[in-house]
Amino acid sequence: MNIHESRRHESCRHESHRVNDTGAIQLAVFGHPITHSLSPEIHTQFAESLGINIDYRRIDCPAGQLAKQLDTFQAQGGRGCNLTVPLKNEGLDLAVQASAAARMAGAANTLIWKEDGWHADNTDGAGLIADFENQQINIRNQSILILGAGGAVAGILPALIDQQPSAICILNRSLDKAEQLARRFAATASIQTGTFEQTPAQGPFDVLIQATSLGHQGVCPDIHPHWLKSDTIIYDLNYGPAHQPLRAWCEARSIRCIDGRGMLVEQAASAFELFTDHKPDTAAVHAWIQS
Ligand code: ATR
Repeated sequence: MNIHESRRHESCRHESHRVNDTGAIQLAVFGHPITHSLSPEIHTQFAESLGINIDYRRIDCPAGQLAKQLDTFQAQGGRGCNLTVPLKNEGLDLAVQASAAARMAGAANTLIWKEDGWHADNTDGAGLIADFENQQINIRNQSILILGAGGAVAGILPALIDQQPSAICILNRSLDKAEQLARRFAATASIQTGTFEQTPAQGPFDVLIQATSLGHQGVCPDIHPHWLKSDTIIYDLNYGPAHQPLRAWCEARSIRCIDGRGMLVEQAASAFELFTDHKPDTAAVHAWIQS
């Protein structure tokens, strides 16, 4: 460890900053599958831009094995991690404490090691709102249509509601899952629900958020023209190949469509700040991920 690193580590305020004998803050992303994850590259770029020494790994971890794998990771010096599919609910259950965002979402995408155990947070919603700001999308008093009612929607709903949109409607193949989410958030928002075959009374909508996993099957959701205004913005939580069906659909209709890479960068930036107490500037990583 050089003198700068030594000073930097001395100045760290949290238990999560303890380092192992390589001098690097030990971080990881757990999930299954995990080989595609861009989190190591994103976090490493943040760290390099701030002169912070991190070692951020991908750890393949199927459902049901997180407790065991976290123990090993922590024993080896692991001080913080991100969680992706299918571990976000399991991660919350293992935490000794959870932020309001994680509790409301019922899921954790970030765990920070402290003296009493893992502390859970969820930065997905903050990441989405930060990317809305980057894209100059202000959803206050705007109507939002969400397609899908899975874990990703649970993760972003608290932050969306916080922005005080005029209406939120969730359409899902399984109506009961949309209704469960509406009930869970009933204290803070009145959420209309339906299936894709139904016409939402609150439409047409200002912003449509695509949160189904249909893109992973190479399929575009069946978007009804009467859900949309002439200037509706479509935001797909997917990116990469899973985004391509919706991108093609939007391009054919000259509809503004944004993929989930910006949210990915911003949720990582919020997690990085939880790991290190340093807020990274995201501009360079946005440019890299869009290239
Ligand atoms: P994530 O964590 O990405 O949200 P998830 O919790 O598995 O993943 O949720 C997947 C979402 O895609 C759900 O809304 C799911 O609908 P159901 O609740 O009815 O399962 C939706 N989805 C997946 N395959 C679908 C399909 N073939 N048609 C329509 N919706 C689909």
